[in-house]
Formats: sequence, C-alpha cells, structure tokens
Amino acid sequence: MQADGKSTTTAVVLAAGLGTRMKSDLAKVLHKVAGRPMIGHVLATLDTAAVDQVGVVVGEGMDALAAAVQPHPTAIQTKRLGTAHAVLAARDFIRAHPADDLLVVFGDTPLITPETLAAMLAARRSPARPGVVVLGFEPANPAPYGRLILDGDGALASIVEAKDATPEQLAVTLCNSGVMVIDGARALDWLDRIGNDNAKGEYYLTDIVAIARADGATAAVVIGDADEVLGVNSRIELAEAEAITQRRLRAHAMEGGATLIDPDTVYLSWDTQLGRDVVVGPNVVFGPDVRIADNVEIRAFCHIEGATVGPGAVIGPFARLRPGADLAEGVHIGNFVEIKAATLGAGSKANHLSYVGDSIVGAGVNIGAGTITCNYDGHVKSRTVIGDGAFIGSNTALVAPVTVGAGAIVGAGSAISKNVAAGALAVTRAEQKEVKGWADSFNAKRRKDKQDRKKEG
Ligand code: UD1
Ligand code: CA
Repeated sequence: MQADGKSTTTAVVLAAGLGTRMKSDLAKVLHKVAGRPMIGHVLATLDTAAVDQVGVVVGEGMDALAAAVQPHPTAIQTKRLGTAHAVLAARDFIRAHPADDLLVVFGDTPLITPETLAAMLAARRSPARPGVVVLGFEPANPAPYGRLILDGDGALASIVEAKDATPEQLAVTLCNSGVMVIDGARALDWLDRIGNDNAKGEYYLTDIVAIARADGATAAVVIGDADEVLGVNSRIELAEAEAITQRRLRAHAMEGGATLIDPDTVYLSWDTQLGRDVVVGPNVVFGPDVRIADNVEIRAFCHIEGATVGPGAVIGPFARLRPGADLAEGVHIGNFVEIKAATLGAGSKANHLSYVGDSIVGAGVNIGAGTITCNYDGHVKSRTVIGDGAFIGSNTALVAPVTVGAGAIVGAGSAISKNVAAGALAVTRAEQKEVKGWADSFNAKRRKDKQDRKKEG
C-alpha cells in the first residue's frame, strides 16, 4: 500500500516469444497497429491504468525491441520455456518493485483497455480477496486457448491448456486471455512452484491458479470482450487487430465532433487528432503525427502524415500532406498537390497540381497550377521562401535556394533561380512572336491540297 491507502501495481509484459507464424525479421510485438508497434499500445494502456512499474520480458538478441520499450526496463528470457518461466525471468525486477498486485500481460495482445485492467484490479480488492484474477473471454473459436475450469461456486478452480485438456474440459467455452493479476506478496512463491509436467513440457503460468488454491487462496474471473484480448500470432490476426483498432479510432473521432462521411474508408493512426466540426470525406488516410484543427474540411482521397492543419483549412480532394507540412488558418490545398516540410501562412492557396517542399510560404500567397519547388539538386535539399501576398503564376519552377519577396508576381511558365524582390514582376519565358494571318493562309493551303488529291484520285 502507498501512504494514501491506494494499492500499488507492478506489471510484467511478456514479449520474448519468437512470433514464428509472422514469418518476419521484426520482433512480433514491433509490428504496427494503427501506426504504432503493438507493444507501444500495451505500454500506453498500462500507463493509463496507473500501473506503478512496468518491466518487459524480451528474448535474447531482441535489441530493437528493448530499445523500443525504453525507458521501461527489460529482463531477458534466454530460453523460452513457457509463460511462467518468462515471468520469472523478471524476478529481479519484481523483487525490486514490491507491490500489492503483480499484473501480467502479453505484448501480443495490443487491444486490452485500461478499463478492463481497472476491473481486474478492482476484483482483487473485492471482499473475497482473490489471490489470482484472470481475464476470461468467450472466443468464437475456443480451440487453441486454455480453458477456465470453474468449481461449484463459480470460482476459478484451474486453467487447463487445450493440449492437456480432457474432452469434457475442451467443451468449456470460457477461455484464458492470458491477462492475470496475482497477489504481489505471494506471486514469486507460487511461480516458483510451477512445474513443466505437461503436453508441451513448458512452465505454464496458468498452473498458478491451482497452486494458489492449494495454498488456501481463491481465484476469480473477470470476463472481457473477445475483441479486446485478440492475440496476434499471424499477419491475418494483425489485420484483425488493425480493423478493430480502426473501428475504435473512428468512433472516438466521431464522438469528438468530427464527421466521417464514410467511416469505414477512413484510416486513422493511434495519435490522429481531429478537431470539432472537421469533415473527412471518403478514402482518407491519416499516418502518424497529424493534428487537424477545428472546422477543417478534408475531401476524398487525401493522404496525410506528420502534418498540422489550422482551423478552417480545406484539403483535397487527392492531396498529399507529408511530414513537416504546417498549414495555417484557412489554407486551401487542392487536387494533386503535395506539401512536404513546408509552412503555409494564413489563407494561402495551392489548389492544383503542385509540389511545395522545404519551403516557407507567407500568408495570402497564391501558388498557381503546376508550380514546383525544385528543392533537390541530387545532393542537397534547399529552401524556397515566398513572402506574404506573392503570386506565383502557373507552371513555375522555383529553383531553390530562392526567395520571392512579399507581393511579387512571377509570370506563368517561369523558371526562377534568382531571388525576386518584393513587389517586383519576374518572368523568364521567351518572348512571344506573332505573324499576322499566318494560320489562315496555312489552313487554306492545307485544305486546297486535300481537294486537289481527291480530284486526282
Ligand atoms: C497462452 C496461455 C493460454 C491462453 C493464451 C491466450 C499459458 C500456458 N497459456 O497460450 O491459456 O489461452 O495464451 O492467448 O500461459 N512468452 C514468453 N516466453 C515464453 C513463452 C511465451 O515471453 O517462454 C510470451 C509470448 O511472447 C506471448 C505470451 O507469452 O506474448 C503468450 O505466449 P504463447 O506461447 O503465445 O501462449 P499460448 O500458447 O498462446
Ligand atoms: Ca499466443
């Protein structure tokens, strides 16, 4: 207990599994759901659930994973001898952070919610004071899961792994999700008593239930939603986790005051922020790190990533905002326009077929159709600066580094490689020639030739 009477929780996340079925060079829990590694979802949920300490069990050589979970400490499980063995790999961490509750979660179960974890911790506080609380669920297909065997009083008697179960036990549909809360004072003692005399020859964490009962403690089940405890073992399950997460994120966006015209076609990232009265058209994809202010309209078929969009802006259809796009209030970005690492001031417009990269664009600027900032010479990226109120004519190439001063006008079709002074006109196209009557005599001659050929034929 803490001084204020609140109970304390130490959590261990198991992530040493090989994830063989993913057929991947990447550790399984580093595969992303809604733009964030699965393990990141689990760690964020534990943070929200006000867990005091979180340690992660990783396998040997999983350095990328250990780096990804920082600042959380990692323990290494050198041999993969089962889930109880994995928890015990964190023995030193558990000893160093004694708490009322030891919470065990799996790194490959990314959809678990803080509410469910809170319900499990509350169950530990219930009058029966169970020594173990297990998160159970009723999957559509119970086949691969451990079964929760209840006693006559409806308390949890034991967990039997599918491979070790009798036909009667296999008929039980209530399954083990893997998430467990254990009495922190007794957890290590019970874990040490777990053996490996079973079908897989592994140290099963699930055996802790029977051991706790034999020790005079009780065990309880909290029932969770099957969607929440989906374990990801394959790319197909990864896609299922993605679909469930997208549904959650879309609902959250709409609850926050955004209209998604066809929600099923809008893809969000875990951190997408949409303001009030934002309207998102069909088929829009939000990559990570996007902030959209209030009253923004995002029309169909946009791809937006690492971008900040100010209030009242209109984006798309068919626009691409790449990382570093920072658009102020009322900016208009139209079809087939790409913005990268560029700020656009209030009310500026780039409505058609343009690329604006590595640029600082002032307020009230009009960027004509087909304008390209030529920011790359094959070696280095250079910057384009456009002052307030400037007008860039259609089909202009701005060869960076270059500055167009405030209020300047660049004539259509220009290749601008020298700075343009404020208020000036810059044009680089060849002068137009005009030959009076040339087209009329050309066309008349061609028509006469055609008639002559017909007469001869
Ligand atoms: C486990 C449960 C089963 C439950 C199922 C839910 C046990 C014995 N079985 O089975 O009752 O229905 O989860 O999905 O606990 N891990 C390690 N080191 C190991 C073994 C596993 O870190 O030596 C980690 C894995 O990375 C994974 C988690 O523990 O995150 C679960 O391991 P896994 O082998 O997938 O357990 P299941 O056989 O699915
Ligand atoms: Ca599993």
